[in-house]
Amino acid sequence: MQQYAANTAPATTKGNDQLQQAPGQKSGMDKIRIVGGKRLEGIIPISGAKNAALPLMCAALLTDEPVQFQNMPTTLDDIKTLSAVLQEMGVIAATPAPDALILHAKSMTSHIAPYELVRKMRASVLVLGPLLAREKQAEVSLPGGCAIGTRPIDLHIDGLKAMGAEIELAGGYVKAKAPDGLKGAHINFSKVSVGATENLMMAACLAQGETVLSNAAREPEIVDLGECLISMGAQITGLGTPEIRIQGSEKLHGTVHRVVPDRIETGTWMIAACLTGGTLKLENARLEHLAALVGPLEEAGLKIDSDGKDIIVSRNGRPLTGTDIMTEPYPGFPTDLQAQFMTMLTLCVGAGMVTETIFENRFMHVPELNRMGADIRVQGNSSIIRGVSKLNGAEVMATDLRASVALILAALVAEGETTINRIYHLDRGYENIVEKLGRCGADITRIPA
Ligand code: UD1
Repeated sequence: MQQYAANTAPATTKGNDQLQQAPGQKSGMDKIRIVGGKRLEGIIPISGAKNAALPLMCAALLTDEPVQFQNMPTTLDDIKTLSAVLQEMGVIAATPAPDALILHAKSMTSHIAPYELVRKMRASVLVLGPLLAREKQAEVSLPGGCAIGTRPIDLHIDGLKAMGAEIELAGGYVKAKAPDGLKGAHINFSKVSVGATENLMMAACLAQGETVLSNAAREPEIVDLGECLISMGAQITGLGTPEIRIQGSEKLHGTVHRVVPDRIETGTWMIAACLTGGTLKLENARLEHLAALVGPLEEAGLKIDSDGKDIIVSRNGRPLTGTDIMTEPYPGFPTDLQAQFMTMLTLCVGAGMVTETIFENRFMHVPELNRMGADIRVQGNSSIIRGVSKLNGAEVMATDLRASVALILAALVAEGETTINRIYHLDRGYENIVEKLGRCGADITRIPA
């Protein structure tokens, strides 16, 4: 077990093993059993955003000083997997508090992200840019993760090549080197990509000269990463716009950074309240990151209030109205809330249409929802959802993270009992889901495998 050396250790008594799963605890093969029909009433604390946390953890590779994260969703399997990837490379990890993580990449012992770990989680590819920038070499297995389409990484690779990297694909690995260091470049993405924007923004921080990223992603997670990098000494402008400029620095330093609240978790519980009725207070959430969801949910019948820190959502009695959505890069409707929104439409009066423009093959929740009594027809990248009067409990299984939580939402309103099998996707992305929903009145139990 690696631990902080005494002279570099921030105050902590816990070491590297804190993020590993203790034997006999939760297993991804566990099931969740829900008896539907309970209104949700109560308070749900929103966790730090998984999709911000993952690139932030990779940013710790850019400095030899410790980086401390607060509001970190340390119990998520994706965070544990990435932590293991980083530890393989010599990074020292410590959890001084349940929602805090310190990563210290004092000296790297390896520049390889191995298949056994990367296959579990696609976001491991985000080590490529920072590792290459710092170590001048990186080997990363081609990624796995959610089975939603082919999900190439050509934009990451082409961008790094434009910055002077030599890259070959061999034996299932991306092998990259930049013996003379990376050089600033103007990269115009042919498609908006969250991951490619993050990877190249991190790489550019230690490149020589200026990098301009055009048609860059604008997600709040990108802004959060950029703000952390700035607090580490990076020079970045244009965050939250389609053109990000990064002036390369010779060195970055350690920092303390608070992870932005999870807008996808927030949106998921807003949709839950809309479906079940009742009132939920979502603590420590940012409504301004969910502008594209607010309109369609209000149209459907949800009342939404926010004091800038918490969000209160309620729906009492009124029938759900059907409405149409189309997923788009931020600030458009998030693809990561598409499955949950579709679940809500299954019980609307009339019909709604969902169009998915980000990922092909992201309708895998449809057959399972139809098995529960929904009336959804898929045509190409659109689905027509005709409202039905009720869903019925069933035994179901999901194939990706957001599809899994969509089935949880369906189960909360279905008549009778639903068993959701193979919940490892949920463990990747939702902290304490059984506890959070149970405390608000849901009849929900985790059944060990
Ligand atoms: C991130 C999120 C994921 C979310 C997605 C879109 C994380 C860890 N994951 O994934 O939850 O669903 O953004 O909001 O933050 N593409 C290419 N070539 C590339 C890269 C992407 O063609 O090199 C395509 C993808 O196949 C997809 C689209 O671009 O069709 C958007 O993907 P991208 O934004 O890169 O998604 P991720 O960063 O993987």
